[in-house]
Amino acid sequence: MASKNMQWILPGYLLLLLFHSTLVLGQHPLEKSHSLSLVTMVPLLELERKLIDNLDNYTNALEQKLQIIRSQITVMRAENEKGGRNAISYLSNPLNAFSLIRRLHQDWVKWGKYMEQSVGISQIKAFDSWKNELPTELDLWDACAGIDRIQSLYDLELGDFINGNINGKQYNASMSSADILSLADHLAMKNRPSEAVQWLQEVPQRLQEERLFIPRHLLIDEVDFLFLLAESHFKEKHYSKALPLLQNCLKLKPNDARLLRLWKSTQDLIEKQPKPFPKDNKEQNVPLANAFKLSCNGPHESSTRLHCFYNFTTTPFLRLAPLKTEQIGLDPYVVLYHEVLSAREISMLISKAAQNMKNTRVHRETKPKTNRGRTAKGHWLKKESNELTRRITRRIVDMTGFDLADSEDFQVINYGIGGHYFLHMDYFDYASSNYTGPRSRQSKVLGDRIATVLFYLSDVEQGGATVFGNVGYSVYPQAGTAIFWYNLDTDGNGDPLTRHASCPVIVGSKWVMTEWIRESRQIFIRPCLPPAKGTSTKS
Ligand SMILES: *[C@@H]1O[C@H](CO)[C@@H](O)[C@H](O)[C@H]1NC(C)=O
Ligand SMILES: *[C@@H]1O[C@H](CO)[C@@H](O)[C@H](O)[C@H]1NC(C)=O
Ligand SMILES: *[C@@H]1O[C@H](CO)[C@@H](O)[C@H](O)[C@H]1NC(C)=O
Ligand SMILES: *[C@@H]1O[C@H](CO)[C@@H](O)[C@H](O)[C@H]1NC(C)=O
Repeated sequence: MASKNMQWILPGYLLLLLFHSTLVLGQHPLEKSHSLSLVTMVPLLELERKLIDNLDNYTNALEQKLQIIRSQITVMRAENEKGGRNAISYLSNPLNAFSLIRRLHQDWVKWGKYMEQSVGISQIKAFDSWKNELPTELDLWDACAGIDRIQSLYDLELGDFINGNINGKQYNASMSSADILSLADHLAMKNRPSEAVQWLQEVPQRLQEERLFIPRHLLIDEVDFLFLLAESHFKEKHYSKALPLLQNCLKLKPNDARLLRLWKSTQDLIEKQPKPFPKDNKEQNVPLANAFKLSCNGPHESSTRLHCFYNFTTTPFLRLAPLKTEQIGLDPYVVLYHEVLSAREISMLISKAAQNMKNTRVHRETKPKTNRGRTAKGHWLKKESNELTRRITRRIVDMTGFDLADSEDFQVINYGIGGHYFLHMDYFDYASSNYTGPRSRQSKVLGDRIATVLFYLSDVEQGGATVFGNVGYSVYPQAGTAIFWYNLDTDGNGDPLTRHASCPVIVGSKWVMTEWIRESRQIFIRPCLPPAKGTSTKS
């Protein structure tokens, strides 16, 4: 469900991925896109537990070998020392002399073989069998993008964020120098060297601490770190900062070709008049990206709620059980219904959906894997699935007054790391002469998406607001509430003021459920709607 705006942010995303060609080429058909939904990351913890158990078993195997060797050393040393005290006397006993010859000829060959024997072959095999389940390069890319989105979109202070102080709240979590280096690498690949430098500046102190308790094979490679820092300075044209770093690197790795190349270029540029640097290849959707950032950072809690009231009117049922309604805004008309789902209903919806989550797609999207305008996974749920979904369907009729017979299935959605949905409109705008997307027979019959009901199935500790960028509405998720708005004006044209976004989740697992209501069934209901923009009604 993207808007036409979605189309022109696509090239930016694709471009970024093309920089890193292995990502595109290396995509596995079974790519799981782990970081796009928190609930589907739960098995990763289970995988990690298995890996730890296996490594634990490996230490047992090592220990067993150690024990055998240690015990034999004691025995062998005792015999050897017996001979050492008085060699001739020892050797004059033929049993001793013979045994020495035989031991050296036979037993020590066996010891040699024993030393060479690998330890923990079955654990190494077990590890190999799980290798394919490890997150891929694309997973890491997505996870980095999520962290970057959180930090840069909300302007979080880097030092605090890295130490687990997020928006003034201290969490028991922090980033290692390997985490930070991955982020910096990601930013460098996105051609954002100055931000890469900021991240990299957090590395040295952390690395110094880590040297005390992290084994060498897990520590970041100092040359990788220095090279990335030098390269980022270079891209920023800070050649005199890059040069000493490169010289340090060359002391550690004098023959490294990439180092030598960059060092040479840097020196040339310092000596000669710097050449004009190739133009930055930054993300191209700058105005829209800024609008997104502004919307998510807008004056919080602003949402000048007009007023709250009980809606008794839509259907006869509401006279008995009125809806707690909160008006978010009149143009476009957006309301929030409180307490429309119970905790029990929510947990049933989530547990059903969690069993089978798929990457969500944006309509008209051609390359869902590389487009990350939406970072979430979802599950479609038919309205007739069970008693619960039928009950919710009736409730939406009460909330909206619409006929839902032809409307879309529910989509239960869970967001991932920094999960967001970029600014978009829900409608297709078939009526507009500008519409260029597919026009299936089905969509013609069902009509456009006249209205949206978005249920919040979870609270979100930080971030994750739904914002209407053009009009400054923002709504924070609260489990059990539902937000409702009209996408089309009374003439059936898409209302661009309904452009909205889901801001990145900072802390929390955000669950929502959408219902997109189609237009065609509503011809007799439509004229009764509260005034949207334009007052004429279609004949
Ligand atoms: C580790 O060893 C124990 C006992 O031998 C075994 O039951 C378990 O399955 C092993 N764990 C893994 C992950 O191989
Ligand atoms: C924080 O997490 C560490 C493990 O990462 C744990 O050892 C420690 O007890 C935790 N501290 C608190 C206050 O929960
Ligand atoms: C009650 O809700 C329906 C559907 O949203 C709307 O048409 C009606 O105007 C609302 N009633 C009031 C008093 O706003
Ligand atoms: C079609 O697109 C043009 C240019 O983007 C815009 O000015 C115009 O308002 C659009 N027309 C409709 C009906 O949306």
